[in-house]
Amino acid sequence: MAVTVKTGTEVRSPLDVAKIRADFPILSRAVNGKPVVYLDNAATSQKPRQVIGAMRAVFEEYNANIHRGVYEFSEQTTAAFEGARAKVARFIGAHDDREVIFVRNATEGVNLVAYTWGRENIRSGDRIISTVLEHHSDFVPWQQLAKDVGAQIVMIDVDDDGRLRREQLSAEIKKGAKLLAITHTSNGLGTVNPVKEIVAEARAAGATVLVDAAQAVPHTPVDVTDLDCDFLVFSGHKMLAPPGSGGVWGRIGLLERMRPFLFGGDMISRVTVEKTEWNELPWKFEAGTSSYVDAIGLGAAVDYLEAVGVANIHDHELSLVAYLLPRLSEIPGVEVYGPKTLDDRVGVVSFNIEGIHPHDVATIFDREGVCVRAGHHCNQLLMTRLGVAATTRASFYLYNTTDECDALLGAIDRAKKVFKV
Ligand code: ALA
Repeated sequence: MAVTVKTGTEVRSPLDVAKIRADFPILSRAVNGKPVVYLDNAATSQKPRQVIGAMRAVFEEYNANIHRGVYEFSEQTTAAFEGARAKVARFIGAHDDREVIFVRNATEGVNLVAYTWGRENIRSGDRIISTVLEHHSDFVPWQQLAKDVGAQIVMIDVDDDGRLRREQLSAEIKKGAKLLAITHTSNGLGTVNPVKEIVAEARAAGATVLVDAAQAVPHTPVDVTDLDCDFLVFSGHKMLAPPGSGGVWGRIGLLERMRPFLFGGDMISRVTVEKTEWNELPWKFEAGTSSYVDAIGLGAAVDYLEAVGVANIHDHELSLVAYLLPRLSEIPGVEVYGPKTLDDRVGVVSFNIEGIHPHDVATIFDREGVCVRAGHHCNQLLMTRLGVAATTRASFYLYNTTDECDALLGAIDRAKKVFKV
């Protein structure tokens, strides 16, 4: 397939990558005697000293449970936790901190909405629109809900470049749907959907819209007010923060009407034998002791990303795609999947080498110090659509370089020699 980004297409990076790399201790490690080339950022990102330091400071300086103590440590930890919520709210364009609920990851966020709003509002015969670009986290919870209540899942396809079939989506929206659950950005191909116009279309037709922004919030500016969706979920671990951090943003009117997801401590205001009254938002949805250190780490990650500028990170990633994509597709036997232009995409490049299974590719790459993901990327629906069982995926972030793209190209050459293809 022709690649429309030509060799020699130069896109300048706005980032001082050497300065950024100095903040990431892990990037100076060697793997199998080679400098590590970490290109698996869609699976998880590395963490800068600033995030590690903020988390270490909690344990070394003031750790205590949040919302429960009237002593200084507890008040300090609570202030840091709620301060992180305020940072996240600002970062995603929320008007009100109470609209941000801390969860462990985007998967938990989708489940929160599916088990609360979903089971209260979706009934037998209702239609739920999904797409083949969805990560399993934004498909399986809806599939299971549909089975439980007798709702119908309607799937939207992509074209051969991995772009959503807009006319099909519009036609299905027109037929009516209770819910549209759609990814902002594909973790498998890097495709960025025209989410704002899709949300407007779906909401005008009466659908509630949940946006999975796990692959978007770390890589491109996302503003919930501008998108005007109903729910949006994301994971902290893909945006320089620790695993165990993430968020659900929801419209306050919806969140107020929804029942809690999990029951127990901290999510109540009054408990008697007869009944329990719920805490205010957002704590109504945060049962038990929250992963407050992870949330504080997420706040520090937001500080870091804001200082660098997410729009700059996006442009930097595109400069790497502009470098890698044409070189990759000039290699005989390499098939690239997903968008072949720089429009509406992020730095995810999926490919296969004819005659070598992606797991073997990734194993050879590892010997060269190159870390990529090989497999279905939690996107089995997409793999089925592409007609493959798996791909090899390189996914960039703010600290990656064109030298690392060269290392990847060298590793492909090595793999082809080893397998004689
Ligand atoms: N969702 C992660 C990925 O894309 C794990 O690899």
